Amino acid sequence: MSSSAPKVLEVRDLKVSFTVDTGRLFRHDYHTIKAVDGVSFDVHRGEILGIVGESGCGKSTLARAILGLVKAEAGEVAWLGQDLLSLDEEAFRKKRRDIQMVFQDPSGSLDPRMTVGEIIAEPLRTFHPHMSELQVAERVRGMMQMVGLLPDQINRYPHEFSGGQCQRVGIARALVVNPQLVVCDEPVSALDVSIQAQIVNLLKDLQKKLNLSLIFIAHDLSVVRHVSDRVMVMYLGQVMELADRDQIYLEPKHPYTQALIESVPIPDPVLERARARRALQGDIPSPLHPPTGCVFSTRCPFADAMCVQKRPSLEATAQGSQVACHHFRELTERQASLEAAQSADQAGEAEHG
Ligand SMILES: Nc1ncnc2c1ncn2[C@@H]1O[C@H](COP(=O)(O)OP(=O)(O)O)[C@@H](O)[C@H]1O
Ligand code: SF4
Ligand SMILES: [Mg+2]
Repeated sequence: MSSSAPKVLEVRDLKVSFTVDTGRLFRHDYHTIKAVDGVSFDVHRGEILGIVGESGCGKSTLARAILGLVKAEAGEVAWLGQDLLSLDEEAFRKKRRDIQMVFQDPSGSLDPRMTVGEIIAEPLRTFHPHMSELQVAERVRGMMQMVGLLPDQINRYPHEFSGGQCQRVGIARALVVNPQLVVCDEPVSALDVSIQAQIVNLLKDLQKKLNLSLIFIAHDLSVVRHVSDRVMVMYLGQVMELADRDQIYLEPKHPYTQALIESVPIPDPVLERARARRALQGDIPSPLHPPTGCVFSTRCPFADAMCVQKRPSLEATAQGSQVACHHFRELTERQASLEAAQSADQAGEAEHG
């Protein structure tokens, strides 16, 4: 991919809230959870966008809002330039063929009473009602082969398959109608570590072969590292940073992104101690009572009075990435001079030692 490829999906200031009742017995106590709170991003043709953030930060709600599975209260979702949120149900359903989803829990998201052949064929029957039985069966067998399943297993039931195989069924079902964008919501989180790489590689191969755009959601930066062209980091319903993959991993600018990267352990005690200073402290705040100002302020080692008062907007950096932090410029400069001083020290030591 490159960001010079045309945009297929444009999401602008998207907001999704839920009302929850935390009261007991006869006393109601209603609260609003801003699950997605003003999220904006684009997806380009043939691009893989990774979306990362701790559990509860709104990744699934964002995915579901894009597909119209949950109602957005504000904002825009445009597919190939056309706003989806203003479409009526029938028009939206037709567009839905272009955008398909792969779910987190492979076994749980497949109907246990249907054979895998019927499961994969279901979207075909919805979107291509005039296809003959023979054509449907042929297409389903072709899809099974493409995702690494044996076409002879077409009449088996989901419970006869392993978790990894069930996810292959989920992927075949998503791809059977030739979508242009596939939203994968933590497609490997429920799988054994040994199987995860196989499914990630399968998705990556299919993306390349079919020139798909992919949104790949994970709660962990290490999973999306190898597949994403760009990565968007979310926290409590908001975007903290959006950058090219290498920039996110090598030069993270937002204190939260830095903390996420620091929390991946490395087997070197000295480096590990240095990293621990920047690692993530404390728990994620309750979405029922999010912090004022910057949502990350309660865990950020650099928070000051302004951070508690004012929400930072997502700003463009000189490198073309976007960061939501009042102080990212000073922090980046400070980090650069610290690194320069360290390497001067090391050079000095080498000369004297
Ligand atoms: N149907 C719902 N009703 C009420 N709250 C919800 C619902 N779905 C999600 N939430 C809340 O919205 C927030 C975001 O959830 P979710 O999108 O599932 O996050 P993630 O996928 O990042 O783990 C969480 O606080 C979650 O509890
Ligand atoms: S705005 Fe303030 S609290 Fe938020 S990430 Fe930046 S420095 Fe930390
Ligand atoms: Mg989720």
